[in-house]
Amino acid sequence: MRLGLKLSIGLVAAIFLAACKASGDYQGLEYAPNMYHSVAYEPLSQITDPMQGTITNALDNGRGEFYNSNQYNPYKMNLRLPPAHTVRRTASGWLPYRGGNDTTGLRLANRLKNPYDSTKAILSQGKAAYEMYCQHCHGAKGAGDGKVAAGVTIDGVEHSVYPGVANLKGDAYKNITEGHIFHVITYGKGLMGSHGSQVSEEDRWKIAKYVKQLQKN
Ligand code: HEC
Repeated sequence: MRLGLKLSIGLVAAIFLAACKASGDYQGLEYAPNMYHSVAYEPLSQITDPMQGTITNALDNGRGEFYNSNQYNPYKMNLRLPPAHTVRRTASGWLPYRGGNDTTGLRLANRLKNPYDSTKAILSQGKAAYEMYCQHCHGAKGAGDGKVAAGVTIDGVEHSVYPGVANLKGDAYKNITEGHIFHVITYGKGLMGSHGSQVSEEDRWKIAKYVKQLQKN
């Protein structure tokens, strides 16, 4: 009997000590976790069958543990569609670029002012983005000699992988404005495709700053 008592005291102490070990990413052991954590709505997956997981549900709510839909929204969706005409904002809270994808839009883009100053931080962020999105075609110095543009030679036959990449250091592009570069990244131009969906508005302006710096060196 006394041994049983000692053992059970030891066991309880061990449980408490194990639970107290929480630190860093390890949150310790929890007993009866559904006392502390409510069942979350999953934004992108609806389980609409209220009986899903009934067997494992310890709550006394008559529902399955996995039921996670929102009964008040259309189609029991957890996420609702945004209202019509909702406008996206960029990470900095800007409205999206509304210049048209045509020659007038390109001309008007020349008047845009880069919202960033040429600080060291902006230029190095622009450099990082340029290396990620532009360098393989336009080259490290902007001379139009990136790996993709230079082409490969197979069995003695030269293949130009991507023809006609602009030499941004050439006379034709020396005087392009930062707004022009922003516009070209957004929509592409001629043989260059649009990069609007992969480069954020913020990064486009930073790249434009960096390209102007490349052109000077
Ligand atoms: C897949 C290869 C490729 C990539 C990647 C690429 N470009 Fe281009 N770029 C081109 C080609 C080809 C042209 C020439 C387009 C033409 O004149 O038909 C060009 C032209 C340009 C021009 C000159 C446009 C003008 O006024 O005629 C600028 C500025 C430019 N690119 C900037 C960039 C920037 C900045 C990036 C990175 C976000 C980038 N490009 C990524 C291929 C590329």
